[in-house]
Amino acid sequence: MQGGNITDILPLNQILCGDNIELIQQLPNRSVQLVITSPPYFQQRDYGGGMGNEVRLEEYLENLLSLFRECVRVVTGDGSLVFNLGDKYEDSSLLLVPYRFAIGATETGLVKLVNDITWVKKNPTPRQFRRRLVSSTEPFFHFVKTADYFYNPDAFMVDKTPPKKLQSQGRNVGQKYFKLIDQSDLSADEKHNARVALEKAIQEVRRGEIAGLRMKIRGIHAEAFGGQDGGRKIQVEKNGFTLIRLRGNKLKRDVLEHSVESIKGIKHPAIYPVKIVEEFLHLLTRPGDVVLDPFIGSGSTAVACKQFGRYYIGYDINPDYCEYAQNRVEMIANENTSSLFGDS
Ligand SMILES: C[S@@+](CC[C@H](N)C(=O)[O-])C[C@H]1O[C@@H](n2cnc3c(N)ncnc32)[C@H](O)[C@@H]1O
Repeated sequence: MQGGNITDILPLNQILCGDNIELIQQLPNRSVQLVITSPPYFQQRDYGGGMGNEVRLEEYLENLLSLFRECVRVVTGDGSLVFNLGDKYEDSSLLLVPYRFAIGATETGLVKLVNDITWVKKNPTPRQFRRRLVSSTEPFFHFVKTADYFYNPDAFMVDKTPPKKLQSQGRNVGQKYFKLIDQSDLSADEKHNARVALEKAIQEVRRGEIAGLRMKIRGIHAEAFGGQDGGRKIQVEKNGFTLIRLRGNKLKRDVLEHSVESIKGIKHPAIYPVKIVEEFLHLLTRPGDVVLDPFIGSGSTAVACKQFGRYYIGYDINPDYCEYAQNRVEMIANENTSSLFGDS
């Protein structure tokens, strides 16, 4: 585009009713930062047309992958695609639909699969099977186009509860390592450096700058370093010790625990949690970015975007769901405006 901004020609903050494979053709290449979506599961529900009701699994996967290719086309170079799929039993055996899709997606050669994030449903449908357990997880696959994808893990799953009283602020913090340094066969210089480094980290803990510390000393602690921790192994070999500062942040794990939502007045049978979309918005987009959901359903993606200052574009083939989604987003917008103006 010359002189103009690409977002000027996008249907921002709109829910368009129609077949996503046709609607997406109207989007320019590399025009959205994130595609996040939950396609209809294979032969699970009839949404009144569209995908999911194919007779053969192969046909379903082909249709989904055709749409996936288009999604890849419209995502920016530093953008991401997040697809959530559910599985299905046939003849008492799981079909592994989500994983077949993920393999097909990576085999397009257009994307890399960064994570298979497991949604743990806190409130699965209460059913008792005699010969199997209740399925209570679903994957969210995170794909990217390049290694330069935008990523903000500091904003992901931020623990809003106040930190526990730090174990570390006690008087004994780190003291055991002094003894271990004395007992070790490090050289006098190495012992001196280890004590200085340890004392410095202890002071950081006492000032509340870090949550705690761990020390690994050559000949005392087992070498358990590999992969990205290889640098620590080198430190232990070279300096005789390594000091790990615990920042107190929650580990950013590939697990999201949330209840399945049902929303009063919205008769959509397969709503995914706004909270999950929210976490992906924090992780993979900046405020003002454009997010596409080609299977918008009840509008969960649009609601999260509205709440966190991202633009959304949503498609759904079922006019009733388009209307539900539109109403739901408008309700959120009105709530936000009322609270801005101090209404209750
Ligand atoms: C699993 S639901 C999405 C639910 C959504 N994530 C939510 O939280 O409400 C899948 C949606 O895809 C829609 N759909 C199916 N085939 C479609 C197609 N070809 N184009 C657009 N929408 C389609 C269905 O009507 C259904 O609402």
